[in-house]
Amino acid sequence: MFIQDNISLKPYNTFGIDVIAKHFVSVSSINELKSVLSLKKYPNKLILGGGSNMLLTKNQDALVIHLNIKGIDIISENEDNVLIKAYAGENWHEFVLWCLNKGYGGIENLSLIPGNVGTAPIQNIGAYGVELKDVFVSCEALSVANKTLKTFSKEDCNFGYRNSIFKQQSKGKYVITSVTFRLTKKNHELHINYGAIASQLETLNVNTPTIKDISRAVIAIRESKLPNPKEIGNSGSFFKNPIISKSHYNKLLKSFDLIPCYPVSEDEIKVPAGWLIEKAGFKGKRFNDYGVHNKQALVLVNYGNAKGEDILKLSRLIQKTIKRLFNITLEAEVNIL
Ligand code: EPU
Repeated sequence: MFIQDNISLKPYNTFGIDVIAKHFVSVSSINELKSVLSLKKYPNKLILGGGSNMLLTKNQDALVIHLNIKGIDIISENEDNVLIKAYAGENWHEFVLWCLNKGYGGIENLSLIPGNVGTAPIQNIGAYGVELKDVFVSCEALSVANKTLKTFSKEDCNFGYRNSIFKQQSKGKYVITSVTFRLTKKNHELHINYGAIASQLETLNVNTPTIKDISRAVIAIRESKLPNPKEIGNSGSFFKNPIISKSHYNKLLKSFDLIPCYPVSEDEIKVPAGWLIEKAGFKGKRFNDYGVHNKQALVLVNYGNAKGEDILKLSRLIQKTIKRLFNITLEAEVNIL
C-alpha cells in the first residue's frame, strides 16, 4: 500500500475540480481496503469511486481512498439468464460494453453513464426508462466499523428514485466492493418506449432493435445533450427532478402552460428540473469558467479552472430562483464535499 501526501484530485473527479487530498491511497483488493480502513493514523477517511457524482468545494483534510478493485466473474448461468458479479472499481460504461459484447441484455439503456460499478447502487443510477434496481440482485459491502463483508439483497437496499439505503441510514457506514446483476441471454426485455430512444432508432433506420442498437441510440442521445466530462467538467444531472403535488402542478399550469411531467402516484407528479432551470433563464449561462450547459440545463459545467465553491454558489442561486418562481425546492443530486 502506497500512501501519498498532497495529491491533486483533479483527475479523480469528473467535474475536474482541482483540490488537494492531504493523503491519498489507491486500493486494488478487499484485503488492502480492510487494512487501509484500519489505519488509526488517519482518522478522517473519504472513499472515492468514479468521482462522477461529487462536487469538491475544498481541500480534503483526509485520507482519500481510491477504490480500484477490479474484476468481472460469471457466478452462474442457464439458457436464459446469467448472474454476473462485477467489482467496485470497474468503470460502469466499460462493464456495459463487456456485457453487450457477450450478448447479455438489461443494462443497454444505461450506456455511457459516468462512474464505476461500485457507486451505481448508491444513487440507483437510471436513464431512458431503466434503473439499476431492475437488474440488481445483491451487492457486497465492507462495514467501516468492523471490517466485515455484508451482503445486501435488493430489498435491503431500499431503492428509490436516485436513492438507496447507502444514501440514507447506511450512509458512510459501508463501502460497496462488488455488485451482482441478473442479465438476460435471450428474449431480452427491450425498453424503447422512452420518446427519445424511439426517434433515435428511427434516425438510425433500425426497425427491430438489438440490445447493441439500443446502446448505440442511447450513446447518440447522451452525446447530443450531455457534455463529455473529458472535454467539459460536469457531474451529469446536478439536481434531482422534483416531485410535487398535483394541486401544485395545476396551480403552476395557470401561469406556465405545457410543463412536461411524469406521473409518480395518484396525487404526485415529477417535473423535469431541466425545464424549470431553462424557464428561469439559466440555460447556457456562463460565468467565467463555470456555468449551465447549453443543451441540458440540469447539468452544471466547469469550462476549465472553476472552483467548487463557485459552482456551489451558482447551484444555490438556481435553487433560490426556482423556489421564488415556482415555489419548488430543488435538491442536489450530487454529493457536496
Ligand atoms: N428539458 C428542458 N430543458 C432542458 C432540459 C430538459 O426543457 O434544458 C425538458 C425536456 O425537453 C424534456 C424533459 O425536460 O421534456 C426531460 O429531459 P431529459 O429527457 O433530458 O431528462 P431529465 O429528466 O432532464 C433524467 C435524468 C438523467 C437521464 C435522463 C434520461 C435525473 C435527475 N436525470 O434527466 O440522468 O439521463 O433523465 O433518462 O433524473 C444523471 O442522473 O446524471 C442523468 C444525466
